[in-house]
Amino acid sequence: MVSLSDALQCTRCALSTTRTTVVLGSGPRSARLLLIGEAPGRHEDEGGEPFVGRSGQLLFRLLSEELDVRRDECFVTNVVKCRPPGNRPPRSNEIAACREWLDLQRHELTPLVTLTLGLTATRAVLGVRDPMDHLHGRPVELGSGVVVPTYHPAAALRQGPSVERVMRADLQVARRFLS
Ligand code: URA
Repeated sequence: MVSLSDALQCTRCALSTTRTTVVLGSGPRSARLLLIGEAPGRHEDEGGEPFVGRSGQLLFRLLSEELDVRRDECFVTNVVKCRPPGNRPPRSNEIAACREWLDLQRHELTPLVTLTLGLTATRAVLGVRDPMDHLHGRPVELGSGVVVPTYHPAAALRQGPSVERVMRADLQVARRFLS
């Protein structure tokens, strides 16, 4: 039987040939909040921890300000556990190859709230094709918890305060399910 620790030696797709580290995820297994991003970037590939770059700094500031939640209270991971070269978006075959690791993590954690960050994560978790502006801030019940899609913090860094405002409102939706 496959177990999550096997992911650390994974060679299921070509990203395994260019990665430095498998970035499986970080945080307590008892976390009530699960954050799912897209894929590790350069800093994450080097250090083995997700969301340690600029996107992560913004993300955890928003979580602290809107939800009063600290990084070490959430479990943080990505759809794809190895960095795509040059930070390109992960390809559908890479997402499919990595799927089992994310499914095992979600099964093990059973969070109250899952925040999907951006379209790649939202599509991977909910299996939907709609654009992000239809999906964000609309909670979807899944298993024993709820999924709240929001934008990826990199979008807020690129596009500025309007996206950050929307993310803050989406986090307020998530807050209702955490309290
Ligand atoms: N860092 C991550 O770990 N994931 C992302 O989606 C972006 C940056």
